[in-house]
Amino acid sequence: MIFRQLFDKKSSTYTYLIASSNGREALIIDPVEENVAEYVKLLEELNLKLVKVIDTHIHADHITGASKLKNKTNCTTIMGENSPAETVDLKLKDGEIIKVDQLEIKALYTPGHTSDSYSFLMNNYLFSGDTLLINGTGRTDFQNGSSEDAYHSLFDKLLKLPEETLLYPGHDYNGKKVSTIGDEKKFNPRLQVDSINQYIEIMSNLNLSKPKMIEINVSRNLMLGG
Ligand code: FE2
Repeated sequence: MIFRQLFDKKSSTYTYLIASSNGREALIIDPVEENVAEYVKLLEELNLKLVKVIDTHIHADHITGASKLKNKTNCTTIMGENSPAETVDLKLKDGEIIKVDQLEIKALYTPGHTSDSYSFLMNNYLFSGDTLLINGTGRTDFQNGSSEDAYHSLFDKLLKLPEETLLYPGHDYNGKKVSTIGDEKKFNPRLQVDSINQYIEIMSNLNLSKPKMIEINVSRNLMLGG
C-alpha cells in the first residue's frame, strides 16, 4: 500500500492519499481546492491513477478539491448518503465497502460534527474526518451538528474499534499527525466524561468563533467546489 498524509497550512486540514502498489489505483480523502495541482503532481510522480475522491463531510473551513480532481482525472466523487451535495457521483450507506484495487475501505456513519459526517476505516487506519480529532472532537454548533449524535458516534462506534487502530483526523492545529484509539480513550480530554449529558455540557460551552468564510465555503462545497 502507498500512503501519504498531506497538510494544508491555511486550514490545518489533512488530506490523505491511499493507493494500491500493485494496480496503481489511488483514492484521495478530503482534498483542498488550492492544493489540487500538488496532488496531480504527486500522482504523476508515483505513477498512480486517481479513481476515487471522498469528502468526509461538507466542510465549513475550506473548499474541497473534489470537482477539480474529477475534471482532471475523471475520478468518482464519493460522500455518505446524508450529504446534501447533489452532484456527488456515489453516496455510501453506513457499513458499505468501496474498493481501490484490492484495498477495502469501509464507510462508517458518524454524525455529530455535521449531520452528514462519515468516517472511513481501512484495515487498522481510521480516517475520522472531524468526528474524532487528536486530543479533541469536532465542534457541533453548525451544519445540523448535534452533541448527542457526536457522543453516540464516538462512544458507540469509533471508540469501540480496537485500541491499536491508527487515528488519522481531518485536522490538527498542534502539529500532531497520528494517534491511536487507545491513546484517545485514555488522554483525549473531551472523552473523559461519565455521561452523555456531561459531553453535551462540554460541547455547549466551547464558545468558538465561526470559521471565516463559512457561508461561501459551504455553498461552494455543496457543489463539491465546482
Ligand atoms: Fe468540518
